Amino acid sequence: MTSIDPLTFPPGFLWGAATASYQIEGAVAEDGRTPSIWDTFSHTPGRTVGGDTGDVACEHYHRYREDVALMSDLGLGSYRFSVAWPRVQPGGRGPMNGKGLDFYRRLVDELLERGITPWVTLYHWDLPQELEDAGGWPARDTAARFAEYAALVHGALGDRVRHWTTLNEPWCSAFLGYASGVHAPGRQHAPDALAATHHLLLGHGEAVRAIRANDPGAQLGVTLNLYAVSPADPGNAGDLEAARRIDGLANRIFLDPVLRGAYPEDVRQDLAGISDFGFVRDGDLDVIATPLDLLGINYYSRHVVAAPEPDAPAESYRRVPTPWPGGEDVRFVKRPGVPVTDMDWEVDAPGLTETLVRVARDYPGIPLYVTENGAAYVDIPGADGAIDDAERVAYFDAHYRACLDAIAQGAPLRGYFAWSLLDNFEWAFGYSKRFGIIGVDYATQRRTIKASGHRYGDVVRRNGLAG
Ligand code: FCB
Repeated sequence: MTSIDPLTFPPGFLWGAATASYQIEGAVAEDGRTPSIWDTFSHTPGRTVGGDTGDVACEHYHRYREDVALMSDLGLGSYRFSVAWPRVQPGGRGPMNGKGLDFYRRLVDELLERGITPWVTLYHWDLPQELEDAGGWPARDTAARFAEYAALVHGALGDRVRHWTTLNEPWCSAFLGYASGVHAPGRQHAPDALAATHHLLLGHGEAVRAIRANDPGAQLGVTLNLYAVSPADPGNAGDLEAARRIDGLANRIFLDPVLRGAYPEDVRQDLAGISDFGFVRDGDLDVIATPLDLLGINYYSRHVVAAPEPDAPAESYRRVPTPWPGGEDVRFVKRPGVPVTDMDWEVDAPGLTETLVRVARDYPGIPLYVTENGAAYVDIPGADGAIDDAERVAYFDAHYRACLDAIAQGAPLRGYFAWSLLDNFEWAFGYSKRFGIIGVDYATQRRTIKASGHRYGDVVRRNGLAG
């Protein structure tokens, strides 16, 4: 009998770090790249903290060799990055831009030379502006454009890239982009957010079919930002109902069509006053449910929710416009004494275990990867320049353990990616939030591995935690 060390991950567990093109690349007007919705949005006054944009970001477009060398220093097994659609297919239609593609070819070569597995995300939010002008994700044609783009990128990189994620977090694209409007393109129209949801999923399914047809052995998946959701008072029927609704809008509205081939009936009913789902055509759900090789899960925190207060006027706690159409009167509750990150997100590592085990139970049979997990904290470098980010070290340690707990409970977890390799442009928060395991001094572009990065390197090398 071999005893299994409870602090060790299964053999072959994939350890990586993740980034996204607009958050790190900079070089927004070089080598034929055209604007994305994030260029337009971040250059619109009032949209981002401090008016920050991704124009320069981490200059990764020019510093990728140094960044890959840092990954190698950390011993990473994989690097998950996204391809900027307007860099490789300017305007979102027509032929590929060879110069833009060359950047990703060089990056992939550099990774492979250092034994790091490249993992490509095809869409991490930088929709070509021309496609938004033509209707964006609420327009059905955008799904077809995405599938075409996906097949072209795969055609260029598929000989060396085996792991592909179609979309990153379609919830954010649809509901932050088209309902609350805090993300690009900044529209605020709930019915459009639902149409966007459907067309994102349709584009995902069509992209999977197109890539699979050319490359049956590719590892294909989608990344969802799943939340643990719980009622403020499990004994209160109204709180339980609030949790059902938010779980539906955050998690099941994506999980069910992708992994079961149907939108959840209760969610459709919650949304009946907003949309009749008339955008769903015959055969769409078969496309959306095209079998996958893996599911990517991004996990950051838990939503604790409560019923509307009976006596308060509904408007008093409505966030208008809300990213939760059909659930706008639900109250999001902060639990006293639970620590929060610099994003004001509660630290809840058991929620990661809960999420992984829940997906394994309710949607069995699909290998799982944590494709993002991490935390923003205010980092204050020491006099010697070292960044001793003890809170982030503790956050990550608790979540590594949460992964081990999920594996012990039978979840088929195959890998974990820290968010993020580098401090970067955190969307509407600009550079005010730092998520990196490597710090970036934006004035000099100097990179410094933080204590959390060194600790991560130990975990990766050991494939586990020290006792
Ligand atoms: C996720 C995004 C990623 C980053 C982290 C903090 O929602 O995928 O780009 O912003 O949150």
